[in-house]
Amino acid sequence: MRLSMSEYPTPSSLLKKYDVPTPRYTSYPTVPCWDTESFSKKEWVTSVRKVFDETNTEKGISLYIHLPFCESLCTYCACTTRITKNHNVEIPYIQAILKEWEMYKKIFGKAPIVRELHLGGGTPTFFSARNLRWLISYLLEGVLIHEDAEFSFEGHPNNTSLDHLQTLRSLGFRRVSFGVQDLDLKVQQTIHRIQPFENLQKVTRDARETGFESISFDLIYGLPFQNPATISDTINKVLTLKPDRISFYSYAHVPWLRPGQRGYGDADLPTDIQKRSLYETGREKLEAADYKELGMDHFALQQDSLYKAHVRGALHRNFMGYTTTNTDLLIGLGASAISDAKYAYAQNVKRVEDYLEAIKDTSAIVKGHLLTEEDLLLKGSILEISCKDSLSPELMNKVVDPTMLGMLAEMEEEGILRLNEGGGLKVTPAGRPFIRNICSVFDKRMRGQVSNDTPLFSKAI
Ligand SMILES: C[S@@+](CC[C@H](N)C(=O)[O-])C[C@H]1O[C@@H](n2cnc3c(N)ncnc32)[C@H](O)[C@@H]1O
Ligand code: SF4
Repeated sequence: MRLSMSEYPTPSSLLKKYDVPTPRYTSYPTVPCWDTESFSKKEWVTSVRKVFDETNTEKGISLYIHLPFCESLCTYCACTTRITKNHNVEIPYIQAILKEWEMYKKIFGKAPIVRELHLGGGTPTFFSARNLRWLISYLLEGVLIHEDAEFSFEGHPNNTSLDHLQTLRSLGFRRVSFGVQDLDLKVQQTIHRIQPFENLQKVTRDARETGFESISFDLIYGLPFQNPATISDTINKVLTLKPDRISFYSYAHVPWLRPGQRGYGDADLPTDIQKRSLYETGREKLEAADYKELGMDHFALQQDSLYKAHVRGALHRNFMGYTTTNTDLLIGLGASAISDAKYAYAQNVKRVEDYLEAIKDTSAIVKGHLLTEEDLLLKGSILEISCKDSLSPELMNKVVDPTMLGMLAEMEEEGILRLNEGGGLKVTPAGRPFIRNICSVFDKRMRGQVSNDTPLFSKAI
């Protein structure tokens, strides 16, 4: 039986100590720490081909499509978006995505087996259902679909129509995640995202009736003007809809990167201690309603495949977040999209116009990183900690150095983790708020780069 958080009170001194800029570790090395100088597109193509040949048998590949457009800006948002009400942007953008995919298909040299397909954004449902049908049908031409394929998309509850749901369901999509964030009116007004609960009720009902098997909600704690009462109210409402999964994200406050976040002041935001208690309020309510906590900031019902993967030790994490599909090749298409070819990462240019221009004659990649042997071991270690709350002796003994051991020993004294005899570690229940910090011990690439000027990451708590 898991004890409730109140039985593991988190000392405020630890919250203060560890509430420092820290990555979310959807990759290692994280993008700001990539060695872009050593990267070349030629090496990138070699890595893609190598991993494709190694894994395009049983495992298959993952495909992420970045659809950046939104009609209006939610000021809290840290995603890479383009705000416009002009829907003429849809067709040229789809054409560019299809062209980029053709380039990859040429590199593969034979039909890819698609295990995972995710439409992210921005707002995929900015696009008309008709245009999404066109995009997906062409993307899947000449492609084999894995027998356990998972197709999913991010839907905005305000503009996901029945037509979107029916179209995507008929194309094989079975999972959808809806951006909920918070249901309190004052919070919504502050973040410029007015989203009545009725919209969420309707879209959730429509998704179920259309045959979507897994519905996930994104919630955020740490937004301006949230307090335990508003969080409780939001979660009570959410629980009436029983989503299969809930991502309960820590608000990433990065106003130097997202000026929209300057629309409210620091005084409107909860302090680090208040923010953590918002999470605990939410967590207690979710656990009381039979949701299980897994990884960082995620919850799922026991019958959901994400939870089952967690129990089997098969949870995986990539640029899309937690997933059950442990593929080694993730191709990201679209402006700002990131690809992971196991031995190398690559990112496309961020501005939509630059992406459209680049794709006319070549790839849109602007930077990347080639992983060294050590990077691969550190990547494996960080992945294991963030997916399993532990690290095996085999892996730890290969990567640990005296600096890391010193940091880990300090964390053990603080009750955050337990070091096993002979190597390996286990995150304690009291250490769960600090998983990002524990991962950062293994982030050798970040060590040399910490500066006090402009932080590279949002704070850990
Ligand atoms: C691309 S958006 C979701 C789809 C759709 N555009 C919508 O808003 O409903 C992806 C998710 O990222 C999360 N997110 C965006 N900005 C964030 C921030 N500053 N801190 C934490 N999570 C954030 C939100 O939970 C959001 O639902
Ligand atoms: S939260 Fe969603 S709709 Fe709002 S700006 Fe970000 S991506 Fe667009």
